[in-house]
Amino acid sequence: MLEEQRLDASVHDRFGFSCGEPALDDYLRKYAAQQSAKGLSAVFVVVDDAQPRQILGFYTLSAAQVDAALLSDAEQKKLPRYPVPCFRMGRLASSLTHQGTGIGALLVGLAVDRCLKARAQVGAYALLVDAKTEKAKAFYVHYGFTACTDSPMTLYLPLG
Ligand SMILES: CC(C)(COP(=O)(O)OP(=O)(O)OC[C@H]1O[C@@H](n2cnc3c(N)ncnc32)[C@H](O)[C@@H]1OP(=O)(O)O)[C@@H](O)C(=O)NCCC(=O)NCCS
Repeated sequence: MLEEQRLDASVHDRFGFSCGEPALDDYLRKYAAQQSAKGLSAVFVVVDDAQPRQILGFYTLSAAQVDAALLSDAEQKKLPRYPVPCFRMGRLASSLTHQGTGIGALLVGLAVDRCLKARAQVGAYALLVDAKTEKAKAFYVHYGFTACTDSPMTLYLPLG
């Protein structure tokens, strides 16, 4: 059965993970645990409980804000002029060995669900993502994210 867990460097095999984007693999191997320990981002992995060391996918969440002027006209009408509080999914990737099997969809769903729960305690208007490539952008658009005006590789999904 698939499980979501907080990244634990003593349990999860970060070096066995590859998603095809070296920058994301490098982040997981070298920086994710450090950033998590410093409180800069929360890192979540999906594993199969039959092989609990093997990371099938991961995502990160942090607090963020966005200038309302970067959102659509319809969104701007609902928002104040000061920076709008948000969550940011800084990174998301699924293992090359499991791409095309629904792990990406699961990661997005888990991240949105976590943001909706956190939003009961801390105000946040939307979930932001930074797409590293056009392919990644297409993936997020598939899930209803909208590109920011003047910053087309940053996309947002209103949580309301
Ligand atoms: C992008 C990525 C996360 C997709 O993960 P995945 O595990 O292959 O995705 P899934 O199998 O869960 O696919 C879920 C859905 O997304 C769609 N999809 C997958 N990649 C897509 C893409 N690049 N563009 C549009 N849709 C895409 C699938 O067709 C599927 O659609 P469906 O549910 O309607 O059938 C994965 O390819 C990856 O990790 N790539 C390298 C890292 C990366 O680009 N990360 C993005 C953040 S910068």
